Amino acid sequence: MLVSVRVKALVTGCAGFIGSHLTESLLEHGAEVLGVDCFNDNYGRSQKLRNLELAQDWDGFEFVPIDLARGALEDLVEDCDQIFHLAAEPGVRPSWGSRFELYVRNNVLATQHLLEAVKGSSGKRFVYASSSSVYGDAEQLPTAESAVPAPFSPYGLTKLSGEHLCRVYHANYGLDAVSLRYFTVFGPRQRPDMAFQILCAAVLADQTFEIYGDGEQTRDFTYVSDTVAATMAAGSAHGVSGRTFNIGGGSRISLNEAVAALGEIAGREPRVVRRPVQRGDVRDTGADIEAARTALHYRPSVSPIDGIASQWAWFVEHAGRQPVQ
Ligand code: NAD
Ligand code: UGA
Repeated sequence: MLVSVRVKALVTGCAGFIGSHLTESLLEHGAEVLGVDCFNDNYGRSQKLRNLELAQDWDGFEFVPIDLARGALEDLVEDCDQIFHLAAEPGVRPSWGSRFELYVRNNVLATQHLLEAVKGSSGKRFVYASSSSVYGDAEQLPTAESAVPAPFSPYGLTKLSGEHLCRVYHANYGLDAVSLRYFTVFGPRQRPDMAFQILCAAVLADQTFEIYGDGEQTRDFTYVSDTVAATMAAGSAHGVSGRTFNIGGGSRISLNEAVAALGEIAGREPRVVRRPVQRGDVRDTGADIEAARTALHYRPSVSPIDGIASQWAWFVEHAGRQPVQ
């Protein structure tokens, strides 16, 4: 996508995995970016600071280290045309027990604070990073946006609450909001609690990778550059206000297939050990992306195998700089 006039974008969660890629892509396309992050403790601050290194080289980038769940945010959004709200407490499996409080705070409260700050203004597009986890164990695969959401994890419930908040502000204040349901995103800088990052670390160190369940669970893995392209398109597309879109990778593979693929790419047999299915994990995800194809001209272009190869190459290049879970 080309940004012809100088767009000013706010990216929340800009030091995170997807947010840092989105920030760089916006800058490369000529936008000015105001990035916000509070370095929450889901993983190391040092990795998040490294995620920001390339963006910091751009004159058009400004970083504001604030916590969205605290205080008023009107000044932050005032000059921005596009607001990409990616800041969140992510991750399905850690969302039980005492950490749920953080999920409510960073996924629901922080979203409400940002929406409050934007609600009175016109001409601002608000893009909310939602999640396939809102579907739970979907009855139909691929799953269309019209399926009734039924989250299976506390995390999914908080992401659905964020979507509902966007809908409520759209309905009451006419807020120009769009929700994107990302499906398991992977690639360079993936969070250290996610499967492929753990797998890369295990294979490189010749350690065992724990497979939860039989490994036949499937995911519509989405390469991060495809996620970013869809997100940027949602920032400026016409006729999408108030809508929700699936952003999947375009195909579904099992975890066992992904592990075998990485073994071939790395030239090393991954050592695996079976562990019980984790609470909150769904069996399969699959995105019907017709709506995004039509309205956002979304065309995922990186296959799971090519994406795994890129993530492995990046991981090896940056080995020693990656924290191991
Ligand atoms: P991430 O943890 O790498 O990035 C999120 C960032 O938000 C972090 O850097 C964190 O410090 C920041 N943050 C959290 N709470 C904040 C607050 N209150 N104020 C300011 N900053 C705050 O996660 P990610 O994997 O890049 O996910 C980005 C978004 O995409 C999230 O909304 C997540 O729910 C969504 N999502 C991710 C995936 C995936 O596969 N990674 C899939 C579906 C949806
Ligand atoms: C991912 C993200 O972590 C969530 O933030 C996001 O919201 C969600 O995608 C989504 O699509 O909505 P998940 O699908 O669990 O969640 O992603 P991975 O951590 O990459 O796990 C993929 C599969 O590998 C899961 O079945 C998981 O149980 C399995 N896994 C993970 C293992 O078997 N072993 C591990 O060590 C880690």
